[in-house]
Amino acid sequence: MAMQDKIKELLDRRVEARLGGGEKRIEKQHSQGKYTARERVAMLLDEGSFEEFGMFVTHRSTNFGMEKESYLSDGVVTGYGTIDGRLVYVFAQDFTVFGGSLSETNALKICNVLDLAMKMGAPVIGINDSGGARIQEGVNSLAGYASIFQRNILASGVVPQISVIFGPCAGGAVYSPALTDFIMMAKNSSYMFLTGPKVVKTVTGEDVTTESLGGAEVHSTRSGVAHFVAENEKEGLATIRRLLSYLPSNNMETAPEMPNNDPIERYDNKLNDIIPDNPNKPYDVKDVILGIVDNREFLEVAPAYAKNLVIGFARMGGMSVGVVANQPSYLAGVLDINASRKGARFVRFCDAFNIPLVTLVDVPGFLPGTGQEYGGIIVQGAKMLYAYGEATVPKVTVTLRKSYGGSHIVMSCKQLRGDINYAWPTAEIAVMGAEGAVEVLYSKEIKANADPEKQAEAYAEKKKEYNDLFCNPYNAAKYGYIDDVIEPRNTRYRVIKALQSLQTKRLENPPKKHDNLPL
Ligand code: HXC
Repeated sequence: MAMQDKIKELLDRRVEARLGGGEKRIEKQHSQGKYTARERVAMLLDEGSFEEFGMFVTHRSTNFGMEKESYLSDGVVTGYGTIDGRLVYVFAQDFTVFGGSLSETNALKICNVLDLAMKMGAPVIGINDSGGARIQEGVNSLAGYASIFQRNILASGVVPQISVIFGPCAGGAVYSPALTDFIMMAKNSSYMFLTGPKVVKTVTGEDVTTESLGGAEVHSTRSGVAHFVAENEKEGLATIRRLLSYLPSNNMETAPEMPNNDPIERYDNKLNDIIPDNPNKPYDVKDVILGIVDNREFLEVAPAYAKNLVIGFARMGGMSVGVVANQPSYLAGVLDINASRKGARFVRFCDAFNIPLVTLVDVPGFLPGTGQEYGGIIVQGAKMLYAYGEATVPKVTVTLRKSYGGSHIVMSCKQLRGDINYAWPTAEIAVMGAEGAVEVLYSKEIKANADPEKQAEAYAEKKKEYNDLFCNPYNAAKYGYIDDVIEPRNTRYRVIKALQSLQTKRLENPPKKHDNLPL
């Protein structure tokens, strides 16, 4: 064959590979409002930056006449490119080829990008759209999954791993996304479950649809499996690009510092009025977050799950930070099982990837009750405590209002190696609120007097005494548990100065094989 013919053959093969499972199946994909694997990769990466691997890979199966049907690339598009000029690795399952199902060779392609990402220290983004294990390949497909999971586990905490679900992700296949750091789902087109509606009906008798069993709504509000939900694929991929801008490429680096045009000494006067006079009245802690971060830009993670704790990424003085804040406008900002799990995972992610933590505290305590105790709040709450205590990244804490008891300790207090702990003048740092304290200490004595008016007077007097003594920041500041009491409107400046001073922080935990976080 002449050289020109050989080159033509290459180009023809490329055209064939780019067609995946063929025009008809591409049309079907489009008719469902879904993009193809290559279209998704192109939207995710900087324009023209994608370099593809394994275009000519085909499956090796001869079961069920499979040797007669094969497609170039074998149902997964893999390679590397850039996002905002930074190297990332990608794989995108191609539903037009055997439903994006995972074959032996398809798994090898995914493992290859995971291996390269680890060697290069670059994030990996996996776009999932697959019918699961390729049924015709049997155990070879299972081996493929296991090989991917093993790599996800080893890469955890080394490079950021992000999973995007833009179609089915069912059966054991859900465990690769579950092992990664963040999961993005699209409304109405993606679903994740271990066993589908038919199996559920057979085993438990429940009638469920794919959407009510494992759609984006369910996983972003009830299970907490999905961290981000997008209206459509385009929006979802744009959010992934934004997310990556806050993250370093690997655990040996810090996140890129961005040019900042928002003055660090900017006052937010509204913050001086934000705390209501009535201690039982809520306010929205997101107003505090937006008031102190650069350009009021905050990428909230899991906004619809455990809303009593707000977590997300922002920049302060150009530095990337992870923000953790109790939300008084939802369940009074109480810590419960879901909030503790949500917060602990976020704190550990930030610590693994050298992202400083800014914690805003307004927490009345842990949620009481059998529901919580039977669900193991002792161990679940300990996760959050553990996460803060083991974290070695810079930790700046601001107590806005309530900080009581165990929840005071958990929320990055000084003795959990909080580096700089500030409080607003409205802070109340104590073992418990006045109501409960007076009840425990004085109820017997007060009730000895049968006159209800006298009782009320005595309660009020004791509560005032307790409030004066304990419900303020100065008692904690007296012992050095609070480094300074700051004016609310000046919080941005004080936190940024604190973060700047902590940039050279050095702190290491004792050597160990790994920890034994209470799971
Ligand atoms: C091989 C598959 C496939 C699979 C789909 N296809 N799933 N081929 N192995 N697992 C093929 C179909 O034959 C079809 O081929 C094409 O992909 C599109 O599938 P449709 O059914 O036409 O599409 P749709 O109606 O959109 O339904 C999608 C689906 C359904 C819900 C995902 O295909 C489905 O239920 N598939 C099987 C799911 C499953 O049980 N997987 C195994 C789970 S066990 P043509 O030629 O018509 O285009 C598992 C274990 C993993 O995954 C363990 C890891 C630890």
